[in-house]
Amino acid sequence: MQFSIKSVVTEKLKSNNVLVPIFKDNRLGACASQLDNISGGAIKRALATGDLGAKSGTTLLLHDIANTARIILVRMDTDTGLSKKQFAEAAKAGIRHASSTNATELVSYLHEAVVAGCELAWKIRIQVLAGRELSYRSDQWKGKQEPSTTSLKRVVFAIEKIELTNATRGLNEGLAIANGVETAKDLGNAPGNVCTPIYLADKAKNIGRGGNIKTQIFNEKQIAALGMGSFLSVAQGSDQPPRLIVMQYQGGPAKQAPVALVGKGITFDTGGISLKPGAEMDEMKYDMCGAASVLGTMQAIAELGLPINVVGVVVAAENMPSGKAIKPGDVVKSMSGQTIEILNTDAEGRLILCDALTYVARFKPSTVIDIATLTGACVIALGGHHSGLFTANAALSEALTSAGQAAGDTCWPMPLDEEYHEGLKSNFADMANIAGRAGGAITAACFLSKFVKGYDWAHLDIAGTAWKSGAAKGGTGRPVPLLTQFLIDRSHDQKKSKVA
Ligand code: BES
Ligand code: MN
Ligand code: ZN
Repeated sequence: MQFSIKSVVTEKLKSNNVLVPIFKDNRLGACASQLDNISGGAIKRALATGDLGAKSGTTLLLHDIANTARIILVRMDTDTGLSKKQFAEAAKAGIRHASSTNATELVSYLHEAVVAGCELAWKIRIQVLAGRELSYRSDQWKGKQEPSTTSLKRVVFAIEKIELTNATRGLNEGLAIANGVETAKDLGNAPGNVCTPIYLADKAKNIGRGGNIKTQIFNEKQIAALGMGSFLSVAQGSDQPPRLIVMQYQGGPAKQAPVALVGKGITFDTGGISLKPGAEMDEMKYDMCGAASVLGTMQAIAELGLPINVVGVVVAAENMPSGKAIKPGDVVKSMSGQTIEILNTDAEGRLILCDALTYVARFKPSTVIDIATLTGACVIALGGHHSGLFTANAALSEALTSAGQAAGDTCWPMPLDEEYHEGLKSNFADMANIAGRAGGAITAACFLSKFVKGYDWAHLDIAGTAWKSGAAKGGTGRPVPLLTQFLIDRSHDQKKSKVA
């Protein structure tokens, strides 16, 4: 699906497919109003039938109005105004309806709708993302690709000439984020026998080449030389060798401290010797979605050319049971020097991330965000709507929460108090890798916090948000929109503080 921007004089609009918003009490937007005039009141007559529902996101298709073959009316209003979520959902409904027709092109005026606190660029961005969400397919692993279910090929956003700069920004942000989201979805959906640590490293190299990013790949020996004993202990049970992936994007001044993104890249999590039950174990191919979101976000910010420095670090390994695998009770030494008693080999994410958190300090980052499908407990706590956000830094918490809201990819703050550290005590090592069942997402975050030194840090547990189970099983590409928005906001802040 292709997206573009055009300044259109509505009276001269000739299209086979037009998307217009209809507001509360059947008020018409500017485009619908003009088309209604030209057509002698055809739209108002259609609305008078009551066929367009009152709920935001309901749609009604009309044929042969003015010079258009089709108009799809989209209800976009409630008593309390239109929320970001309602706009996004209504846009998706409108584009979905348009894709079900026989038309190849769509001209959208949905951005006529007013959404509190949102500019035109945002409304264009959301429509691009909605269109790309609808047209995404994951059939590349099937023997035969399924035929396309839509004839819709082009979406045009009709705007006024003076809005061109803003609209273009929205279009570019939408395309870059959609590309990053699809990279993350593709990687998540790829089967575990294909998407190995080496595969992730190759993808990172490719993204780096396309985006002017310096990418370094460390093999097992080099990881050992760095002293990452905890990371390596997880990898040792698998025939697939681990990889440490480091991507450096420099869009800001050389001296500017970077933001670091650290992703969990377990390409398959069997649980190891603490073997997981068989049911739904296939979904553990998604245990590299933190890594996938780092790759997707690096791709998006490079495509946007954001004026900011970002380091992406991925720790990639497979968690398998074998004669060489770690066992409950084993003690390993992390890169930080702290020792860890492994009481459960299925709590492997924290064992690889802790060394990445130590490693990343060498880039002297201002902020480090790690992203991981870390705990089933987070799925129980928050379900699939919000990612779990753990940070002791109030400003960072606020920045990530609001970036998530703006991007429609939300996270929810969780506690990280000292009290929760208690359960991680070990009789034999500096700490254990698990605490009791209670508050499992929080104790996992507490474990990670013991390796944070010299930078602001936040942890995103995306176990509930990175993919969907059931009939619509598939990667979501989250939290690429959240992270990209956070970095867009950061790059603005840095510009502002330079001016001040
Ligand atoms: N990758 C899993 C977390 C997970 C579970 C994500 C279910 C999505 C859905 C992680 O490595 C894991 O196994 N965590 C354990 C930790 C426990 C042993 C303390 C868990 O959540 O059960
Ligand atoms: Mn596990
Ligand atoms: Zn895992």
